Amino acid sequence: MNNRILKRLLLVTVLLLPAVGLVPLAPGRGQEPAAKPRDPAAWGGNHAGQPVPEYVQGDECLFCHRNEIGPSWVKDPHALTVRYREASPEVEALLTARPDIAKLAPEVTHYLGSRHFLRLLKKDGYGKFALASVQLQFPADRQNATRTGTWSGSPTWDRQTFAIRCAGCHSTGIDPENRTFSGFGLDCYTCHGNVDLDHTKDKSLVWFSKKRRSDAKAITSICAQCHLREGKSQSTGLPYPNNFIAGDNLFQDFKVDFARADDPSLNAGDRHIWRNVRDVAVNGDESIACLSCHQLHGDSIQKHRRVLRAPICSECHAAEGSFKEVRQYTVSSPLCGY
Ligand code: HEC
Ligand code: HEC
Ligand code: HEC
Ligand code: HEC
Ligand code: HEC
Ligand code: HEC
Repeated sequence: MNNRILKRLLLVTVLLLPAVGLVPLAPGRGQEPAAKPRDPAAWGGNHAGQPVPEYVQGDECLFCHRNEIGPSWVKDPHALTVRYREASPEVEALLTARPDIAKLAPEVTHYLGSRHFLRLLKKDGYGKFALASVQLQFPADRQNATRTGTWSGSPTWDRQTFAIRCAGCHSTGIDPENRTFSGFGLDCYTCHGNVDLDHTKDKSLVWFSKKRRSDAKAITSICAQCHLREGKSQSTGLPYPNNFIAGDNLFQDFKVDFARADDPSLNAGDRHIWRNVRDVAVNGDESIACLSCHQLHGDSIQKHRRVLRAPICSECHAAEGSFKEVRQYTVSSPLCGY
């Protein structure tokens, strides 16, 4: 057989294969509802109600990973979401702006919120915080080095709310029995899971290593444990998951209403998350997941520009034409109180 005929034959085979079903046609990226939705709870297992494992803590991880992860981690919203008061000295002056808040100030030990809003916390025994009912809103322009902001709410300490409404997404390792956290802020464990120290020899043992970041279902569960802010744990009734550990199937115990993905009244910041989670978990379309667009360490969306156009793009851009225009939106959440 000469070369030209061979090429022809190859071409014909390539063209015919999809038609005879040997090579599946590439699915539409970020497709509209699939013909057969899948049960999001069908795969894997979960740890609802079991004790929190003795996980390796962040300072230990950073002992070995300080060079590549350390520099961006100290600025990461996940790390900063709850922090010691001393970590934000620029807020100090704002605590005296209102006399009633100045009265609370001596008791404040930690802050909650890193980018737009700030809440005041007071250590209240092992693994517990009291939450003040006041909230500081930073101005939209955050370039300004001298911090300003506006206070709202009443200056009273609430000892219940943090544990039963906030802890699961703003702190780490919540005991399913008494709702105490084992670390404040979000430790490596919340995303990387219960890390086996043998991962130094076999990287596939740790979630999100270069060798273990392609399982779209599992990764979506990991990010969605906190980023679907309207779900409810079936076993506890609380608005955050029950002892979720990276690798678990979130939807076995955490119940959510996927119709939110189509709700036009929801802001695009939250809705693109609902939509992406629904596409993966219910429609079985794994072509686009959080990490197609987000780079977590370093907090970058640079890579989202290289994704092929898909329906999810129109959450923030026009359905056709240039990507230059970006829809403006304001993130808000009744659960988080802003
Ligand atoms: C189901 C998980 C979840 C629960 C429960 C939760 N939050 Fe949040 N919270 C988040 C996520 C995710 C964000 C970031 C959302 C974004 O910016 O898109 C956030 C953001 C915030 C912010 C804004 C931070 C900033 O500066 O932008 C504040 C303040 C906040 N939460 C307070 C609370 C409080 C107080 C509670 C309890 C009453 C609470 N949250 C409960 C997940 C949760
Ligand atoms: C909120 C989720 C989250 C938390 C918390 C988190 N990581 Fe990651 N990590 C990721 C994701 C996602 C990746 C994949 C690469 C990326 O997006 O940055 C990753 C990648 C890594 C990598 C591989 C980097 C590479 O070269 O690809 C290391 C090492 C790492 N994380 C260490 C840590 C350590 C140490 C901590 C705690 C101090 C931590 N991570 C906390 C989500 C997280
Ligand atoms: C004793 C030192 C040590 C400790 C402690 C440690 N690691 Fe590692 N980690 C390593 C080494 C060594 C590698 C392999 C690095 C390589 O080959 O590039 C690695 C690899 C990784 C990777 C994959 C990086 C890649 O290139 O894909 C991730 C993710 C990671 N570690 C996260 C963590 C987290 C999270 C913790 C804490 C729970 C932790 N490590 C604790 C030494 C450590
Ligand atoms: C354990 C809870 C938790 C997990 C898991 C988690 N996040 Fe977050 N995420 C938060 C909270 C809380 C904030 C807001 C922190 C703040 O500003 O106080 C946040 C903020 C963010 C932001 C906003 C950053 C910015 O600068 O505007 C992005 C993007 C994000 N998360 C992506 C992810 C991705 C992708 C994953 C999965 C790899 C993930 N998160 C996993 C809780 C979580
Ligand atoms: C198609 C790309 C794409 C996918 C998929 C995607 N995101 Fe985003 N996301 C973006 C872009 C781009 C932004 C930045 C929007 C901005 O800065 O106005 C963003 C913003 C965010 C924010 C910040 C909202 C805010 O303004 O406070 C969070 C949190 C977030 N994404 C989480 C996630 C999670 C979790 C997933 C997976 C379930 C996900 N995203 C999937 C592109 C994507
Ligand atoms: C959650 C909101 C959000 C989603 C979803 C989103 N984008 Fe974007 N996009 C942005 C924001 C914000 C910018 C401007 C910041 C930047 O340049 O990254 C942007 C900028 C861009 C740019 C650069 C435009 C220019 O010429 O300056 C491209 C290209 C782009 N997006 C493509 C996409 C594609 C492709 C998708 C779908 C796969 C998508 N975006 C989904 C928010 C989003």
